[in-house]
Amino acid sequence: MTPFEMAKLHLLSGSLTRPWSESEYKILLSTDTIRFFYVENGFLVGRLIGPDAEILNVIVHPKYRRLGKARYLIDKFEKEAKEEGSSKCFLEVAESNSRANKLYQSLNYLSVGKRKNYYEFVDGRKDNASILAKEI
Ligand SMILES: CC(C)(COP(=O)(O)OP(=O)(O)OC[C@H]1O[C@@H](n2cnc3c(N)ncnc32)[C@H](O)[C@@H]1OP(=O)(O)O)[C@@H](O)C(=O)NCCC(=O)NCCS
Repeated sequence: MTPFEMAKLHLLSGSLTRPWSESEYKILLSTDTIRFFYVENGFLVGRLIGPDAEILNVIVHPKYRRLGKARYLIDKFEKEAKEEGSSKCFLEVAESNSRANKLYQSLNYLSVGKRKNYYEFVDGRKDNASILAKEI
């Protein structure tokens, strides 16, 4: 999957926050600490920083959801992170993003903090970020 295809999928995903551009994906993918996994119609971008791993984004095309693609991608990332020495995986998710919250809950991520009004959506609304974590 190319940075162009990732940006296109991000745009299609219904994201309430500003979709990342092709050049932003290009920069991310050329960063040492970044790990990237993909399936047909979905991808995950994560970062490894010593003992901590972080999921930066996981996106599946709206027509191909509830097929286990995000679960598969997260499992791959957690395994890779563990192999490279990480012991905990973190992520941030908007409180109103119920699909994503259900996904992470189903994978045993637990809330470890909150950032108030962290997200500013493209329509001007704001939302809190939940910080979730899991031992891997
Ligand atoms: C969140 C997202 C990545 C989930 O992708 P997905 O491939 O549909 O998720 P999976 O099929 O792997 O779902 C795994 C589990 O998560 C939970 N889940 C996922 N979507 C759900 C939904 N819409 N409603 C309820 N539970 C859901 C379920 O427990 C599901 O298991 P099940 O289908 O066996 O019941 C997808 O909806 C998406 O791309 N959303 C927009 C981008 C986004 O919000 N990303 C997260 C940023 S933090």
